[in-house]
Amino acid sequence: MTVRRRVVVFASGRGSNFAALVQAQRRGELPVDIAGLLCDKAAAPALALARAAGIEAVALSPRDYASREDFDRAMFARAARLAPDLIVLAGYMRIIAPAVVEAWRGRMINIHPSLLPKYPGLHTHQRAIDAGDAEHGSSVHFVTAELDGGPVIAQAGLPILPGDTAETLAARLLPLEHRLLVATTRLVADGEAALAGDQVVRGGQALAAPLHLDANGNLA
Ligand code: GRF
Repeated sequence: MTVRRRVVVFASGRGSNFAALVQAQRRGELPVDIAGLLCDKAAAPALALARAAGIEAVALSPRDYASREDFDRAMFARAARLAPDLIVLAGYMRIIAPAVVEAWRGRMINIHPSLLPKYPGLHTHQRAIDAGDAEHGSSVHFVTAELDGGPVIAQAGLPILPGDTAETLAARLLPLEHRLLVATTRLVADGEAALAGDQVVRGGQALAAPLHLDANGNLA
């Protein structure tokens, strides 16, 4: 019998990526245990999604802590009680203290809505449109101390269409993000992709470029 890897998800808001992970797990497409959801906002809709799914949901408020780092330490100590093999940041909108990030190096991934290294930070859809880019997308990367700067595991791309706004582009990208996050979480949870130094390795080979999500939801 294989032991299922334990995944803890961090989110700040809507939680559609978290819900995609839960649904994939329920469909048998993501063989992990989703051990809990942690939020930095008590009003995050993601919390209700977790509770409805019978998944432990915890909210901690940064206001209750003396410093940003104290809050981060409390969040990750709370996560550690759920014994995760992997932490997935899925719409978690806080910058995490470098010392805390380092402790989870290689065991924490993040989904970011751009084709990294383009557009780390916020307002990625608008920035891609303003730059006149032909293509936009989303990336899942290992989390390192550099904001949205860790080694990229996989990406999903889509064309920017004439007349696209940040809203239309975000709406078209979201279902791709869900598939990308499920497929990448599966790959990392399985140990098929891992962080070695500053490189992503798959099957013992360093990736020369990020994997790409194909039309069947596979990473190649
Ligand atoms: C996603 O677009 C993700 O890439 C970004 O924030 C959004 C989160 O959406 N970081 P949701 O909360 O998962 O619905």
